[in-house]
Amino acid sequence: MKAHLKVLLIFDMPVRPAGTDYAKHFRSEDWQNIQDIIAALNKIGQEVRLLGIHDRIRPLITEIRRHPPDIVFNLLESFANERKHESSIVGLLELLKVPYTGSPSSSLTICRNKLFTKRILAPHRIKVPRSVVFPLGQRRRSLRHLKFPVFVKPIGQEGSDGIAQSSFAENVPACLERVLFLHEHHHTDALVEEYIEGREFYASVIGNHRLRVLPLREIIFTEFPEEKPKFATFKAKWDEDFRSRWGIKNTFALPLPEGLEQKIAHLSRTAFRALQLKGYGRLDIRLTPENEIYVIEVNPNPALNKDDELAQSALKAKIPYYDLIRRVLQLGWEVTAKG
Ligand SMILES: Nc1ncnc2c1ncn2[C@@H]1O[C@H](COP(=O)(O)OP(=O)(O)O)[C@@H](O)[C@H]1O
Ligand SMILES: [Mg+2]
Repeated sequence: MKAHLKVLLIFDMPVRPAGTDYAKHFRSEDWQNIQDIIAALNKIGQEVRLLGIHDRIRPLITEIRRHPPDIVFNLLESFANERKHESSIVGLLELLKVPYTGSPSSSLTICRNKLFTKRILAPHRIKVPRSVVFPLGQRRRSLRHLKFPVFVKPIGQEGSDGIAQSSFAENVPACLERVLFLHEHHHTDALVEEYIEGREFYASVIGNHRLRVLPLREIIFTEFPEEKPKFATFKAKWDEDFRSRWGIKNTFALPLPEGLEQKIAHLSRTAFRALQLKGYGRLDIRLTPENEIYVIEVNPNPALNKDDELAQSALKAKIPYYDLIRRVLQLGWEVTAKG
């Protein structure tokens, strides 16, 4: 990688930006993440231009023509507030032959669909919950081959969107009720999976070919009623009051039975490769009381926020934040500029 790169940082704007003076927006706390990344890129001596994207593609093309970047640092998660378009922007960069960070459009497309993801993982002898899809508007599907309780979730959303206590269903009527709710309120196909009882871990991986699995993180529910099922609802993930009331914390993994951490690391690498992720990724994993490891979800381009799982795991592995950002840039460069 050249020592000095012209980096174009692209990121989501909830509204159409007026011009490219983002200073006003960046004052609010919501933008801390972008500020941290800019600071890290500056620290490693890179020249950064910024482009906030909402629902227009032309400004991106114009920017790339006028100020050809060596690489695009891709923080974009949606287009016109639609997450399903995330991969299309990367596809556009591929057409324009501009190097970029993170995973290719093909992996973003596959991983956004939790059913496709499972179909790719299953032949690699990775355990995934058995499931049935209820396409939007259809509620007649046989649930006979699923063991209850089940878990009902949107087939392709992120950040626990559409996940609440009632995602856990102990019988058919409760399951169908939640399916209907997702159809009506989230306008999405519903994925009904067998519920995987147990602890939940987040495995962050960095690399392209040689992969490094960073120290595991775990979500713990310290004050939650013993008999209640524990999983990461929207509130459990994002609502600080709710989290402190129920003692929900994201922490480094508590001790694991002998050999399991290595098993999880091995399986994480296999999944990362099978889905052709690049640069960095994160797996959501559940471990049953019988020590069976299930992959719940694979996230290409997970959040790079300083306080999020990947950066925390990197720090534990003695990779400071600026160095993590440097590696993400370097890994992107290796795949898309050299290739
Ligand atoms: N089959 C399942 N069994 C048990 N818990 C699940 C299952 N699927 C999802 N969950 C819980 O719901 C959370 C969110 O589901 P996930 O598939 O990771 O969606 P998101 O993309 O919103 O993160 C998980 O972190 C986990 O706590
Ligand atoms: Mg998840």
